[in-house]
Amino acid sequence: MNYTNSFSRVTREMRSSLIRELVASTKNIEGLISFAGGFPSPLTFPEKQLSEIFGEVVANEGRDVLQYGASEGDALLKKELMKWEGYDLDPDEMLITVGATNALYYYGRALTEPGDVILCEAPSFLGSLVAFDALEVDCKAIPFDDEGIIMDELKEQVSKIRAQGKRIKFFYIIPDFQNPGGISYSLERRRELLRFCIENELPIVEDNPYSRLRYSGEPLPTFYRLAREEFDGSTIVTEIQSFSKILGPGMRIASVKGDKALVERMVSWQQKVNITPDCVAQRVVARFLERGLMDPHIENIKKFYAPYLNKMLDELQKNMPATVKWTKPEGGIFLWLTLPENVNADELFKEAAKNKVSFIPGSKFYPPGQERYNTLRLNFSFATPQQIEDGIKRLAELLV
Ligand SMILES: Cc1ncc(COP(=O)(O)O)c(C=O)c1O
Repeated sequence: MNYTNSFSRVTREMRSSLIRELVASTKNIEGLISFAGGFPSPLTFPEKQLSEIFGEVVANEGRDVLQYGASEGDALLKKELMKWEGYDLDPDEMLITVGATNALYYYGRALTEPGDVILCEAPSFLGSLVAFDALEVDCKAIPFDDEGIIMDELKEQVSKIRAQGKRIKFFYIIPDFQNPGGISYSLERRRELLRFCIENELPIVEDNPYSRLRYSGEPLPTFYRLAREEFDGSTIVTEIQSFSKILGPGMRIASVKGDKALVERMVSWQQKVNITPDCVAQRVVARFLERGLMDPHIENIKKFYAPYLNKMLDELQKNMPATVKWTKPEGGIFLWLTLPENVNADELFKEAAKNKVSFIPGSKFYPPGQERYNTLRLNFSFATPQQIEDGIKRLAELLV
């Protein structure tokens, strides 16, 4: 059977993960130093603690957790998460999902029709952009500076799109240690954006896999918290918080906090797509939290990554010509380079592979037709400090 002619239109038109293809294209280059992937270091996974808790959970609670579970997620995990994050929510305001990607898909399914417009940051996380592709929405990307989204650009776009009679269903943002940009929104910009979105009834979905991975500077409140605490309990924000960069992406655990009616519809989607998230993994995370292991573990990860980030910033400073600029994140796992206008990072990628170093060209992080070509993303959580030193030198050789 040849299925090619039977694929649905959405399936035929779906973009593949360009990042996976790019990473695969350099896989067999011996001695290549890669800043391309977005993997956390496996050295940060709490293997020993998790293996003990997995064993105990299956032994002691197996009859419960090896059974089908609730579509909204494990009640115990929700309770422990609220305690950990300092919220006293109605359990119906929270949902557990199979990673953030799943949550974004349900959120999009709950809110959009094909042809609707959604907004994202320019650049934004490709994994989410391709998940939105499946919704057949038109994604418009809004540029940001070092403090967050550029409000004038946002206001102009919203007026323009609405004047065309189109509906903007939501704004997808990654406010802390943005992937791929590395920036975090300032407190003032958070308030400004929230005020605008509330006044204009524009829902925000806040993707938050990195805010806990802060190596310097002061923590900032999430949009979700600000909306509740400073904007009269507004439910304009839905926050998705993934454990992928904390416990390991293989756990596939994320939580969603948001408006009850919206969460309830997202649960209906989960029921159809997944029945339930992995019940064993959920209970393991619940017990991990209950034993107070999360905060010390996160402190260890922060201690582990801080020197990686500092090393990359030092090596960029030492080796890059003055025409190259980069963001200076205080956490997360990525930073973003802006090259002179005439340098195309898609071309540079091929040259860099010959010089045994790789990155992701910035053009891959924009919706189709809105690309910028003189930018690139560097990941600093996977290569060793020595590799960071050698790799940045190799990259700089191509830019001087
Ligand atoms: C901004 C952002 N959102 C979502 C994800 C994926 O999260 P998950 O593994 O929970 O699906 C990532 C992973 O790199 C990310 O950077």
